[in-house]
Amino acid sequence: MQKTPPEEAPDSDLTPISRDRAPACRVALVGFGTVGRAVAKILGERTDGLLRLTHICNRNVEHKKQTLGSERWIPSDVVWTDDFHGILNSEVDIVIELIGGLHPAEDLVRRALTAGKSVVTANKQLIARHGPDLLQLASANGCQLEFGASVAGGVPVLPALRTGLGGDRLHGIAGILNGTCNYILSRIETDRIPFSEALEEAQARGYAEADASEDLDGGDARSKLSILALAGLHVRVSPGDIRARTIRPIDAVDFDYAAELGCTIRQISRADLKETTLFADVGPSLVPASSPFGRVQRNLNLVLTSGEYGGDMAFLGAGAGGDPTAVAVVSDLMFVAESLAAGSRSAGPRPHSPLQFASPKVSCDFETPWYLRFLVKDQPGIIASLAAILSAHQLNIDAVLQNSGFDKNALPFVITLEPCRDAQLHPALQEMAALPFALRPCLCLPILR
Ligand SMILES: NC(=O)c1ccc[n+]([C@@H]2O[C@H](COP(=O)([O-])OP(=O)(O)OC[C@H]3O[C@@H](n4cnc5c(N)ncnc54)[C@H](OP(=O)(O)O)[C@@H]3O)[C@@H](O)[C@H]2O)c1
Repeated sequence: MQKTPPEEAPDSDLTPISRDRAPACRVALVGFGTVGRAVAKILGERTDGLLRLTHICNRNVEHKKQTLGSERWIPSDVVWTDDFHGILNSEVDIVIELIGGLHPAEDLVRRALTAGKSVVTANKQLIARHGPDLLQLASANGCQLEFGASVAGGVPVLPALRTGLGGDRLHGIAGILNGTCNYILSRIETDRIPFSEALEEAQARGYAEADASEDLDGGDARSKLSILALAGLHVRVSPGDIRARTIRPIDAVDFDYAAELGCTIRQISRADLKETTLFADVGPSLVPASSPFGRVQRNLNLVLTSGEYGGDMAFLGAGAGGDPTAVAVVSDLMFVAESLAAGSRSAGPRPHSPLQFASPKVSCDFETPWYLRFLVKDQPGIIASLAAILSAHQLNIDAVLQNSGFDKNALPFVITLEPCRDAQLHPALQEMAALPFALRPCLCLPILR
């Protein structure tokens, strides 16, 4: 982007607006897949002159161009290339990274920033692992890095953390961050279908990959939670330090018992900053059926923030999909373009956010009430044996739920506990798993009121 010398800046209210207008920001799109294509379409249909798509970069680019590149909304003068080096040597102002994954995305982003190109990315893995370093690199090279689409797709929660909530001091963030898990859990809830059937349905509809482990076992959500913690709580936390619990053992019967408690089950990601400790956890949890989390259906995302001054805020919407995610990418592009234009009239681009991040101790030792669902071969004395272990660990039973009509050889029943810390409960769970009537370790879920 050509910089306007300060002496040419408008100096009176009579200066025509058109003289102040910066030339369009030149944009290179790297990765012409689901999101990349949707971004190209929005850019091709925009008429405000702020952004100009100049390059589309993809591997096997000729094949890509033939199969996907003939749409009329792609400007005819766009350069189709697989030569990223050529983009770095061009006059491109902003590189959009939409190839995903860590390799070679990390290398491409570092090279772009080092070359002084601002970067917009939707890559949660990259930002969760290397966000703080990349922000420093961007700052050191006088350019910007934006990643608004990397969490909750089209839901503008990251820009809100940067601007609308920048004046608050946030201490908690919680969310439904994985649409695949929410789709599966809300389908089991609605029709009481088995977990395996809900997963197959999600895969058939394109909401879950063939290997959905990253989604089901919490890996995807904890990457997103670490980005939210970075942007909202200004802490550096590695995704691997956040405990992730799988949703695989959840079954229809759990929704029956949860309903008796006025609850339903959702995969909840939560982070609470208390002094020098970040309490963080990702996994299935009981939430009140009438709460904002309890009402989120299918593959939507919801993020709630808690601030010292502003209280609680909620952000709800489509967490994935080419078009919603592309909206977030283009919004970031506009922010960077305006920032670069402002920078060309002053000392430099607007800084992203504080570049100093605390590195708190990370703990999953929340204190909550608990839902314990057992699957046992029925025999006399089961409740007494479990109660003895719980009592020995100073754990108070709140309720025992046992519905009739189940096979006595595989009987599911529930004990709920009054609030206690995770660390206090854990040894009791290990002892209970070793009891002879236990067909499998009990399912243990926090109850979030
Ligand atoms: N899809 C969503 O709903 C969504 C939502 C939020 C965030 N995101 C994020 O957005 C990013 C893009 O996702 P997507 O769904 O658009 O992925 P995608 O459909 O798989 O597109 C990736 C594109 O990058 C190209 N590519 C891969 N490796 C490359 C390389 N080394 N050099 C050049 N091009 C390469 C691929 O080419 P080939 O066609 O040859 O493989 C493909 O065209 C990811 O970081 C993802 O996590 C996606």
